[in-house]
Amino acid sequence: MCEKAKVDNFIQPMAEGAGNAEEGYRNPIDVERAITEPFTQTLIGDARKVPLEPGAADMVITSPPYWMKRDYGVDGQIGQEATPNEFVQNLIECMESWRAILPRWGSVFVNLGDTYHNGSLVNTPGRLEIAAHDAGWTIRNRIVWIKEAGMPDPAKDRLKSRHEYIIHFTPRRRGYYYDQFAYAEKYGNGTGPSDVWQIGFRRNMSKHLAPYPVELVDRILTLACPEQVCTCCGKPRERVVRRTAKLDPSRPQAKRAMELAKEKGLTPEHIAAIQATGISDAGKAMQVQTGTGRNSASVKSLAAEAKAALGGYFREFTFAKRETVGWTDCGCAGSFRPGIVLDPFMGTGTTLTAARAIGRSAIGVDLSSSH
Ligand SMILES: C[S@@+](CC[C@H](N)C(=O)[O-])C[C@H]1O[C@@H](n2cnc3c(N)ncnc32)[C@H](O)[C@@H]1O
Repeated sequence: MCEKAKVDNFIQPMAEGAGNAEEGYRNPIDVERAITEPFTQTLIGDARKVPLEPGAADMVITSPPYWMKRDYGVDGQIGQEATPNEFVQNLIECMESWRAILPRWGSVFVNLGDTYHNGSLVNTPGRLEIAAHDAGWTIRNRIVWIKEAGMPDPAKDRLKSRHEYIIHFTPRRRGYYYDQFAYAEKYGNGTGPSDVWQIGFRRNMSKHLAPYPVELVDRILTLACPEQVCTCCGKPRERVVRRTAKLDPSRPQAKRAMELAKEKGLTPEHIAAIQATGISDAGKAMQVQTGTGRNSASVKSLAAEAKAALGGYFREFTFAKRETVGWTDCGCAGSFRPGIVLDPFMGTGTTLTAARAIGRSAIGVDLSSSH
């Protein structure tokens, strides 16, 4: 890793114990391997002391054992603690180990279901959020995963639980890698995708229940695992998106707006002016503004001309399709590798499967090798 990365990228020094490679372990950001193609790697280890160096992964997606549910029968396992608070403290210890590995634009997504104990929900997800917040993490989202089916529950005096949470933690309030555009393109919901995800339930063929569908991981990877990371400075490239003048001709209003624009001889500058004045699209507006944060007189007059020509149809251009026009450039002039996701409670390896499917790299860690 270049000097620039050592200075810029990390918020914490290497954690005690990190970097003590297990036998056979190779640094996953080994440039030769990382450039050529995405890789997957599995390690036996404890999620509280993940044996990786800072920069070995870009983000974490994981589903730890839930409190007092399955006994995995391995020494050092998490999930069988005497109290929910001890369980949460162990998860916080894990998160500190991951924080030491992640760059400052990394994210952690934890899928955690709740547990009934003595008849009452104990709220392990909420307890984890509070403890993580107290430990300095930012909680960016509590995603509700709605399941079509789930574990049988014979109780006649309560409703079956058909949701779980995925909590998005970041080490800092801002500056984490996030590609909402890619997510919206893939999973719909236009410009404002929501924190409620309806995804089917599946059992896989192994002896463990894996209530963790590939689609759930894919959604998170799409949001927060970079497509391209500079092998020199370690910075991810960010998508550059611009609103275009392209409208959907299958919508009658959009078709009419395009006809009118043509008939009245409107130029691309007119359309850009409508978009700069008519919507709060700062990125687009900055291109045609004066730099003062206000639209220049010429932009205002172009927008007025265009609005007069189009009447109410001008609005069509304010929600025209957006497109990727490029990627940010860190200036290293080096190569790029795919983002690397770490799953420290790998289980059957759903995270690795999902990463492989879309060309991201993945490292799975588990105490047990018997999955
Ligand atoms: C709920 S499963 C993970 C399910 C996974 N999402 C999947 O798709 O299969 C939890 C896993 O955590 C592992 N585990 C328990 N305690 C651990 C620890 N301290 N460190 C690492 N792995 C641990 C268990 O062996 C088990 O494989």
